[in-house]
Amino acid sequence: MSVGSILGAPTPCAWVDTAVERWRELLVDHANCEKKAASSALALMFAYPEDRRLGLALSRLAREELRHFEQVQKVMAALDVAFTRQKPGRYASGLRTQLRTSDPGRKLDLLLAGALIEARSCERFRLLAPRLQAPLSGLYEQLEQSEARHFELYVDFARAVAPGEWEGRLRALALCEAELATQPDPDFRFHSGPPGPEL
Ligand SMILES: [Fe+2]
Ligand SMILES: [Fe+2]
Repeated sequence: MSVGSILGAPTPCAWVDTAVERWRELLVDHANCEKKAASSALALMFAYPEDRRLGLALSRLAREELRHFEQVQKVMAALDVAFTRQKPGRYASGLRTQLRTSDPGRKLDLLLAGALIEARSCERFRLLAPRLQAPLSGLYEQLEQSEARHFELYVDFARAVAPGEWEGRLRALALCEAELATQPDPDFRFHSGPPGPEL
């Protein structure tokens, strides 16, 4: 499955143009995203301790996300980007409202949400890498490949958890994710829509 085929809609050009201009602000949110990716993986390990295969895969994934966090911090220091507090955007909380909160269903939804978030990150790193200068271009090129592996990992587990249901459910959640990532957004973030007043 490719990134393009899993996402409900591509990132609008207006988001990419803004990101190229506002890359400093984006880096701060990006550092937060890497921490959040590690922490979501840990939360999933705590939720399903009996699934040893999932636990091991997520443990590795969480370590990788923390390494990404360290890489982003290093680049922020090199480019003299200060850490500023940002309130969370609407993306993660908006997506969370669509997820079932108990099983059966919760595990599949959490895995699919992970797949969609990783796929969107991968798509955006791919769009940004050629538009930015070193060291950001190189970092984003490398991260694009990691996030592609992560989205595949989440999709593979989702497929195994609910062979008959995962695809239809993915389509439904992808529609919601695409809306959050493409509709005008008052807060500019790594997973936001393009800047503009909310419709
Ligand atoms: Fe990452
Ligand atoms: Fe990731």
